[in-house]
Amino acid sequence: CVDMTMVCLNDFEEYAKQHLSKATWDYYEAGADDCCTRDDNLLAYKRIRLRPRILRDVSINDTRTSVLGMEISFPVGIAPTAFHCLAWHEGELATARASEAVNTCYIASTYSTCSVEEIAAAAPNGYRWFQLYLYRHRKLSEQIVRRVEALGYKALVLTVDVPYTGKRRNDIRNQFKLPPHLKVKNFEGMFQEQAGSPEKYGIPANTLDPSISWKDVCWLQSLSRLPIIIKGILTKEDAELAVEHGVQGIIVSNHGGRQLDGGPATIDCLPEIVDAVQGRVEVYMDGGIRTGNDVLKAIALGAKCVFIGRPAIWGLAYKGEEGVREILQILHDEFRLSMALSGCRNVAEINRNLIQFSRL
Ligand code: FNR
Repeated sequence: CVDMTMVCLNDFEEYAKQHLSKATWDYYEAGADDCCTRDDNLLAYKRIRLRPRILRDVSINDTRTSVLGMEISFPVGIAPTAFHCLAWHEGELATARASEAVNTCYIASTYSTCSVEEIAAAAPNGYRWFQLYLYRHRKLSEQIVRRVEALGYKALVLTVDVPYTGKRRNDIRNQFKLPPHLKVKNFEGMFQEQAGSPEKYGIPANTLDPSISWKDVCWLQSLSRLPIIIKGILTKEDAELAVEHGVQGIIVSNHGGRQLDGGPATIDCLPEIVDAVQGRVEVYMDGGIRTGNDVLKAIALGAKCVFIGRPAIWGLAYKGEEGVREILQILHDEFRLSMALSGCRNVAEINRNLIQFSRL
């Protein structure tokens, strides 16, 4: 049965805003400083116009694609976001089940409120990657890598844009932190030696290592045979370095505008990165995807797949697993329609000819 009140992703955003506590809503919504980059992530898609082709028999549209050789139902996956239990009591278990049901890729966050073991058990056939931060205490990073490898997670997504957490004003005003009944389950007990130390977001502060550099990418490669994907690249220079360091993928991302304010919208940096990489590794992107048209534009500009952050959380806040499924279904339907209306019968036919560059 189709819910006629939830027509587009913005409807879920509105619902989440009405139903979550103010502090929780503020945390999910937050961008850094003036939120210029967060907002530009969305606006940048609206500046792009398409060049639709006609009379191409679009009676059948195949939305399937693949990431790292694995087939998924359409080129939209779920980006890693923290603390899903704040939005829905089952938290990441619901997210994992929804992405399994829709047959797409779910990147589980280090800062999940369910453990990597619980997530794997909830959706045993789901296709999953694990998002990793590097800790000062390298043993912590090493232990979690071993666990996800054994659990069948298929790639490590190393987030590189958080040497320090960005300044999110409302979180400071609200003194936001995880309520005591919720835990960063992946590290239960592991931070004990630091008990009593200052906390940020309910996690001991100063655990992330701001000295992280390319040599740590090599360290990670020495640790694990899993493919490594670098999340948080915004320039061709860093894309080139990533390829030179032998990683398997890049996620063009500015962390949803939560880190450096004043940086570019991700869709605006995608072309230079795709050009630099020249097909040597897969390029993905996230930030501001809210409609099927946005997905079409990102794929046309060379992304292999895009990922949604906040929209998945709005889906959770609405109806848990079912809500996340609805979000993905709406994006799928919109993407299929946009493909058809622009004359694309399959994902391989989506290319730069679809973009009106003269206007950009
Ligand atoms: C994030 N993001 C994020 N990224 C990451 O690598 N690890 C994490 O734990 C988190 N946590 C997180 C929490 C919340 C509330 C948000 C909104 C974002 C960033 C995320 O993966 C992604 O880059 C952005 O959310 C994409 O932008 P949209 O889709 O939210 O516009």
